[in-house]
Amino acid sequence: MLNVKTIGVIGAGQMGGGIALVAASNKFNVVLCEKSADQLHKCEADHKKRLGREVEKQRMQQADADAALKRIKYVQAMDLIRDCDFVVEAVVESSQVKRDIFAGLARMMREEVILATNTSSISITEIAAAAEVAHKGAGQRVIGMHFFNPVPVMKLVEVIKGLQTSEATTSGTIELAKLLGKTPVPANDRAGFVSNRVLMPLINEAFYAWMEGVAEPAHIDEIMKLGCNFPMGPLRLADFIGLDTCEHIMNVLADGLNNDRYRACPLLRQLVAAGRLGDKSGRGVFDYTQPAK
Ligand code: CAA
Repeated sequence: MLNVKTIGVIGAGQMGGGIALVAASNKFNVVLCEKSADQLHKCEADHKKRLGREVEKQRMQQADADAALKRIKYVQAMDLIRDCDFVVEAVVESSQVKRDIFAGLARMMREEVILATNTSSISITEIAAAAEVAHKGAGQRVIGMHFFNPVPVMKLVEVIKGLQTSEATTSGTIELAKLLGKTPVPANDRAGFVSNRVLMPLINEAFYAWMEGVAEPAHIDEIMKLGCNFPMGPLRLADFIGLDTCEHIMNVLADGLNNDRYRACPLLRQLVAAGRLGDKSGRGVFDYTQPAK
């Protein structure tokens, strides 16, 4: 039986911020750790805005929104998550950065604490190995807990077992995901897991369709939205995810599955090289710098 009162979240970007908000809204205390003071302030302001919107839409009482915000501690120093009962890491998608963080967590956290990563593409087994080297036995407590953007809206948590992950870690993570109001679904530790193994080649194919002049971007998206009931077309979704992230995940698939059919479309690579990264840079496939018509 899981005994978690306080969740440590590392990284206050879009994903970490969303995970912290969902945890606090579901009555967990949260220690949200982010090394950039600017990003931390931005995240806190976003939490206030999102909770305000919940009150405005009468989905939450003002007192509950205030209480949720109070449950989150915004901190910059990693060692302030030391007493947490569960950790979810959501920093940049870099294997080296994540391995360093998990080595630190393995040394710092109590021995029963589950160490989850929100990675969308990096091998859980590799991250667990770094934890194991730092502290014997820690590898079995490492697991993938892959949330989807926007975290407060999307129901899925893909739960990924590394080679070393124990059954207790898996069942504890599934239990926590349910307590967060999510639907956990298991997957194994292969490149891209299930979500990105299937989603990214679809997005990549939309770039090929554009590059080859099959249709213009807005029409590709409209066809997939109206024809397949997608909430967003694949090219709009690529902008939302970040074109650099899409390119990175395609590289992970191509390398991890050792198959060139997963190589990123040259047009996707070109947009990334030009700094057109999607929503976050103001322009990707589409231009977000002009006011919406
Ligand atoms: N945080 C919290 N709530 C949000 C939000 C956010 N960032 N963005 C939107 N919402 C909420 C809105 O508040 C709104 O609710 P209310 O109006 O009731 O308050 C609701 O979602 C719908 O939003 P909108 O009306 O603005 O727009 P929409 O109907 O087009 O929905 C969307 C927006 C939910 C993002 C929808 O377009 C969608 O589901 N898109 C697909 C998203 C998707 O596929 N995500 C997965 C990406 S892949 C990934 O994350 C993993 C990876 O590894 C790459």
